[in-house]
Amino acid sequence: MPKNALLKIDDKEIACPVMTGSEGEKAIDARNLRKDSGYIFYDQGYGNTGSCESAITYLDGDNGILRHRGYPIEQLAARSEFVETAYLVIYGELPTKTQRKKFGDLLRQNAHIEPQMQRLFEGYPKDTPPMAMLASLVASLAGYYPDLATNNFEHDLKQFDLSAAMAISKIRTLGAMIYRHTRGLPFMHPKDLPFCDNFLHLMFSEPYHDYAVIPEVTQALNLILLMHADHEQNCSSATVRMVGSSGANLFTSLAAGIGALSGPLHGGANMAVMQMLQSIHDEHDDGSRFIAAAKGGSKSNRLMGFGHAVYRNFDPRAKVIGEACGLVLKKLGKSDPLLDIAHHLEQAALKDDYFISRKLYPNVDFYSGIIFRALGIPTNLFTVMFAIGRAPGWIANWREVASNPKGRIYRPRQIYTGPVKRDYVPMDQRG
Ligand code: CMC
Repeated sequence: MPKNALLKIDDKEIACPVMTGSEGEKAIDARNLRKDSGYIFYDQGYGNTGSCESAITYLDGDNGILRHRGYPIEQLAARSEFVETAYLVIYGELPTKTQRKKFGDLLRQNAHIEPQMQRLFEGYPKDTPPMAMLASLVASLAGYYPDLATNNFEHDLKQFDLSAAMAISKIRTLGAMIYRHTRGLPFMHPKDLPFCDNFLHLMFSEPYHDYAVIPEVTQALNLILLMHADHEQNCSSATVRMVGSSGANLFTSLAAGIGALSGPLHGGANMAVMQMLQSIHDEHDDGSRFIAAAKGGSKSNRLMGFGHAVYRNFDPRAKVIGEACGLVLKKLGKSDPLLDIAHHLEQAALKDDYFISRKLYPNVDFYSGIIFRALGIPTNLFTVMFAIGRAPGWIANWREVASNPKGRIYRPRQIYTGPVKRDYVPMDQRG
């Protein structure tokens, strides 16, 4: 491996150090390029820019590989559960029995939402977008737990175990409360239950009729949350890091990540996929209209649940979730015509030159909605489910930023394309 990469601009040669990651990923360290040459690298969307070093998740988009802390996603999907994987993602190792118990206890002890905070819901119209509610409620946690959210890394990190468990547990509880608020249902109080069962209780129990645990449902929920636990420097995780890099506390940084996730090109795609499948079903269409529209090049007509900023191969999460769909429906004794439509659409797209030449494959959002739907979760809550699953990844990323003594504030450069210097024109002289 060379030590330096040489960049020649006019007659000047600039040496940039070469870096390698633990999986052999190669980079050119351009941190001093501007100082040494006056040039910056232009990389709109940062698609070819390494913004950090991170030990959390390894993703090889060309080969469809995803590993958390070294463990392949397929093994975690088959053998782990959400809370254990959350611990792994955040702390770097699979927990021992004692660590797992302590973490589970912390999650249970911090599942509630303060009565005063519950009153915030009164201010939200029933049709407020769930992700908008979630972002603002999570930001509000900083007001209810000010000692965990001081915007002082050293102080906040001392209480990280508590704030991390609070964030995971309360985002889950808030997700269920948002569901009940939009339906005009009374809130349920969290119980001393495992993480996923508690969520199902918070969602579906009635005041005099507790939700009865169905192991298959718990298992499916565990799988789907686990599959979302982290995904390298995606838009929302990079947002959490960016906001965190300013010194912002965990809750504020998470709220920003939730905002980033809500967009239809990111987490919001899971809702859009379901709407697309439903409309194909309702119109007795075969999906060709959506495929034809997607090929037109407009961002708003993209085939939702297809393509990925990094994968140029099958998204391994889509493989696992796609296979799980049929099994989950079978175990629950349900069928879903949208699953057949999704299979058909996938096959049609995978045979189409437009998708083949651009290496566009189904992503995590293509099949996840079928499972959410089978669990009784309404479409407008799908992205909130993604947020519940992704919380561990965001937290791990915030922690890396907060605990890096050499970390700089995230502050990209730009190429300015606006007007050059001109003089102020008084209003009565403006054309
Ligand atoms: N449908 C039609 N065309 C597409 C799609 C799609 N779903 N995705 C990409 N393309 C086209 C794109 O227009 C470009 O075409 P051209 O070369 O003619 O200009 C080409 O394929 C290459 O695009 P890209 O550079 O791979 O895409 P990107 O990095 O700009 O965008 C993406 C990645 C995920 C935003 C995009 O694939 C997309 O909009 N997909 C649909 C939304 C979606 O499913 N999002 C969930 C992503 S996975 C979960 C998550 O992490 O949030």
